[in-house]
This record gives sequence, structure tokens and C-alpha cells, in this order.
Amino acid sequence: MTTTRTRPVIARTRGELARALAQLRAKGSVALVPTMGALHDGHRALIRTGHTLADAVVVSIFVNPLQFGPQEDLASYPRTLPTDLAACREEGVALIFAPSRDVVYPRLPLVTVSAGPLGAVLEGASRPGHFDGVLTVVAKLFSLVQPDVAVFGEKDAQQLVLVRRMVSDLDLPVHVVGVPIVREPDGLALSSRNSYLSLAERDEARVLSAGLRAGAEQAGGGADAVRRAAGRALDAAHSVQVDYLALVDPASLQEVGPGHEGPALLALAARVGPTRLIDNVTVTLPPAGPATASLRTELAPTTDR
Ligand code: PAF
Repeated sequence: MTTTRTRPVIARTRGELARALAQLRAKGSVALVPTMGALHDGHRALIRTGHTLADAVVVSIFVNPLQFGPQEDLASYPRTLPTDLAACREEGVALIFAPSRDVVYPRLPLVTVSAGPLGAVLEGASRPGHFDGVLTVVAKLFSLVQPDVAVFGEKDAQQLVLVRRMVSDLDLPVHVVGVPIVREPDGLALSSRNSYLSLAERDEARVLSAGLRAGAEQAGGGADAVRRAAGRALDAAHSVQVDYLALVDPASLQEVGPGHEGPALLALAARVGPTRLIDNVTVTLPPAGPATASLRTELAPTTDR
């Protein structure tokens, strides 16, 4: 449904941001939704959650160079500002912060946030320095916007773990909220990078969520059964090159052992053609014994999201 709301204020400089924020703060609390643009229904879900948590929603749109490796897609990352602005307007966003690179980084930062060991596993193992770049820009956005609450998607599960850890370790005065993954009817997790996929690749990409679902369905059999089932499903798709498939503790991000009980994160990254995609699901591993696992049903293909 398309509804027309009041046009959001667009701030491109620090001064414009400060002036617009002063007006919003006079009226109540502020939720920040940090994005790199190319907004899709997953971002809309973040904005809608923001509305439930604060009086006004601020969306930042900034493709952060610090979080891209030298061989990565910084130059080709989709930039769709006009449609992003329209989406923000439809979603009742009060303020859009769309700064240039020079506004965010007036000089090369010598002091940055280090993600530490949690940033070196999974995505961090394949993308060295990625999470230092993410945390540095998120810390800057928190300083510039000073939101009461910040909303992040659970698709970037490791990012969410690290942002929470940064907020806790550095005593940042912001409440961080995660929002479940939004999926296509066939299960593919929404991502700005899905726009890179050809029609054939888009079809093949279904196997990512199908593999996670196959793993999650085996939760009753324990951690090894989950890994085996997901691995088998992904191996069957010859055109998909798996970067990692891991079943990890949701806080420490360390691989869980066969006796692990309770929630675990089944996470993967894979290349479909040249496009690297990530996805994850939380599985609840039962105490040793027969199938008492409860699965989250978030991976079930749906037509109603
Ligand atoms: O999730 C993203 O889009 C980015 O990593 C973020 C949090 C906006 C930082 O650039």
C-alpha cells in the first residue's frame, strides 16, 4: 500500500542534521535506522519497528567506504537515492541523513573502533577489517544523531552482535533493537545485493534459505545433524559456492559442540555467480534426548510478508 505522508527533512551536512534533530527532540524520542540505501521491504520493517519505539524515525543513508575491502563492491553498490527518499516518505520517516563521504570523514580517521575477536570470525574471516569499518561508522552515527534507540536487521546477525557489544563495552547511551529477516515468498532473504542477481542466479539463490531450513528441521538431532543436513542441501546446488556454513553460539559466535543446548545461530555466506550473499536462522537445540527441539518458523516460505 502506498500512502503519502509529510515529506521528510533531508539533511546532508552536520549543521542541517543538528538543526533538524533539535526540532525533533523538542517533540519527543528518536529512533535511528542506519542504512546504506537501496531500501527494500527489510528496511521498511526496520522503519516500522522504529515507529513503535520512538516518536520520530531518522534514517541514515550512507555507503560507508570503511567497511568495504579493496576487491569488494563499493563502486558498484546500488545507489538509489530518489526511490529511497520516496520509500522513507511512504514510511513516515521524519528525517533522512544522507551525508557525503567528506561530511562523515572530513579526514582519514586515525582512531577507529576495533571489533576485536568477535569481528574476526564468520564474515570477518572472509572480510578482514569489515566490522571495524561498520562499528566506526555506527559509532559516528550514534554520536551525530544521539538516538534513544537504534534498529538493525537480524540478517546481518554478526553485525547486530557486534553493535550490541560495542554499546555495552563503550557504555553508549542507546538501546539497540533487532528486527527479524524479511524474506521473499520462496525464502530468499531480502538484501540490497539481490539486485545483482541474474534471473537464473535469483532462482539458484533459493537454495541458501532452503539449506538453512533443512538444517533447522534437524534441530532435534543435535548440532551435528543440523550441520550435516544444511551442508548436504547446499552441496547439491553446484552453482552455489559456499564461503562458510557455521552453527555458532549466538553471543560468542564460536562453533557449538555436539552437546550444545538452547539457541544457536546457523549462518552462511555463499556466492551465487559473482554475488556474495549471507543468511542465517536461529535453531533451538534440545537437551540431549529425543526430538524436543522447537524450531523458529521464520524460514518457512510465506506469501504474506
Ligand atoms: O547494515 C548496513 O546497512 C551497514 O552495515 C550499516 C549498519 C548501515 C553501517 O554502514
